[in-house]
Amino acid sequence: MCFIVTNMLYSLQSVAGQDKYLPSDEIWVCDLEEVFQMAGEVPPSMSGTCGCSLNGHMYIFGGYDKIGQSNQIFCVNLTDGKYTWRSIKHKIGSAPSHRDKLSCWIHKGSYLVLFFFQLEDVVWGWNNEVHVFDPVHASWSEPQTHGRTPTPRATQASATLGCRGYICGGRVMGTRMSDIHCLDLESWTWSEIIPVSTTPVGRSWHTLTAVSDSSLFLFGGLNVDCKPMNDGWLFDVQTKKWREHPFKTKPRLWHTACLGKDSDVIVFGGSCDYIFNILTGHCNDALIFQMQPYSLYRICENYIAKNVKNCEVLRHQLLLLPPKLVTAVQRRMSLYRRNSIS
Ligand SMILES: *[C@@H]1O[C@H](CO)[C@@H](O)[C@H](O)[C@H]1NC(C)=O
Repeated sequence: MCFIVTNMLYSLQSVAGQDKYLPSDEIWVCDLEEVFQMAGEVPPSMSGTCGCSLNGHMYIFGGYDKIGQSNQIFCVNLTDGKYTWRSIKHKIGSAPSHRDKLSCWIHKGSYLVLFFFQLEDVVWGWNNEVHVFDPVHASWSEPQTHGRTPTPRATQASATLGCRGYICGGRVMGTRMSDIHCLDLESWTWSEIIPVSTTPVGRSWHTLTAVSDSSLFLFGGLNVDCKPMNDGWLFDVQTKKWREHPFKTKPRLWHTACLGKDSDVIVFGGSCDYIFNILTGHCNDALIFQMQPYSLYRICENYIAKNVKNCEVLRHQLLLLPPKLVTAVQRRMSLYRRNSIS
């Protein structure tokens, strides 16, 4: 299994006041082409939740449903094959206020760190708070941070590298930014990283994915002129340099991204249109970004998957491979079929 995408980044499907959210009781497992029905304490259908995978469990927090923002945590064990949602009630501390369009980081394999953007019952506003949830003790706490806290914002992109949480850009007051801030999760100190290279244009609704010990991959988003972006960039946190990824693809915003096999970044879902054209823009294709040279094995797998249809010799020889390899190649073939990737 290469990666798991759920509809936890649920998508809006219709206009003005009649927003429709996808149900929370389905989990789509890519590479196996299977959908599992979920049961238990199923969360309401929402958009703008934040989610992460921690010790074989998927956690989601916050989000926006038909009624408003949420501050609840839900959890699914992804390893027992039951896909049963549990609502997590905290025992210690107080939960953050209701919010959506936020980010989370994972720290020390046990903490869920959350921050940013809230919309409360009466007054709404963006914030730059950091809250920590510890699933082992079911406790919420708010650490005292040091350094210069980034300006309050929404729909920023975030990623974790070691014991540091990074955020990039997002909607900041009347504009969209591409500034990078780092929070040391041991000392709780914020610092801004000033790049020493060309930087991507400001944006919101983009993604940031950790692709090595020191680099982050940014993709897509919505720029200051409300144009959906199709550019990808690598940022090295040590050299502080941005480098544009050579592979340009379709524009995408409000999508999900994660690191898959062989260091590929897999982008799924989102919209290819301006954020308010919610009737037209939805995407369900997967975009794959290669981050490093592939192994010989992967090159062969790709070659066969791509060419088997038009090559009789390959077609006949495929079944002579050991069963494990046949299965792997067939999965790769189905990925090519579904996404017409090249
Ligand atoms: C999740 O499922 C695995 C596999 O069945 C099990 O070993 C583990 O204890 C479960 N975790 C929790 C917290 O129930």
